[in-house]
Amino acid sequence: MHKYEKIWLWLGSASLLFFLVVLGISAFYMGSKPPSCAVTLDPENVREHQLFKEPGLTQVGDNEYQLTIVSSAFDYDVGNPEKVVEIPVGATVHISTTTTDVIHGFEIAGTNVNMMVEPGYISTLTNTFDNPGTYTLVCNEYCGIGHHLMTATIEVVE
Ligand code: CUA
Repeated sequence: MHKYEKIWLWLGSASLLFFLVVLGISAFYMGSKPPSCAVTLDPENVREHQLFKEPGLTQVGDNEYQLTIVSSAFDYDVGNPEKVVEIPVGATVHISTTTTDVIHGFEIAGTNVNMMVEPGYISTLTNTFDNPGTYTLVCNEYCGIGHHLMTATIEVVE
């Protein structure tokens, strides 16, 4: 084997080992987890959790809202059968969602909202909607035969 080849092989293996050690220490010794791991609930009784009894948009402060959505195959329950959420432009929205069945995606196309929704966990994210318009909430994790039908509409209005 060529000398440089050996050096690069060692360098590659050593850096791989180094990053695995760093990852291992942060995960197992320092206990770092994805942020959504902090809040759990019983995935079998999502509707009994106080957050998800009545999904939808609630005002919690001055231009500040709480939006709770129940994700399930193949639907987003936003609190109305039209599947439309109207958000006043400039509002800060604290979004909480969970799933009653399998893993789903939660992406509001054209915004920074993009989460994974896992059974047993509450996924949360805060976003300020500064630009008026119609946005589509889409599932971006393949979840079954109706995956492509799993959408809702977010309307940011003046
Ligand atoms: Cu839900 Cu794909």
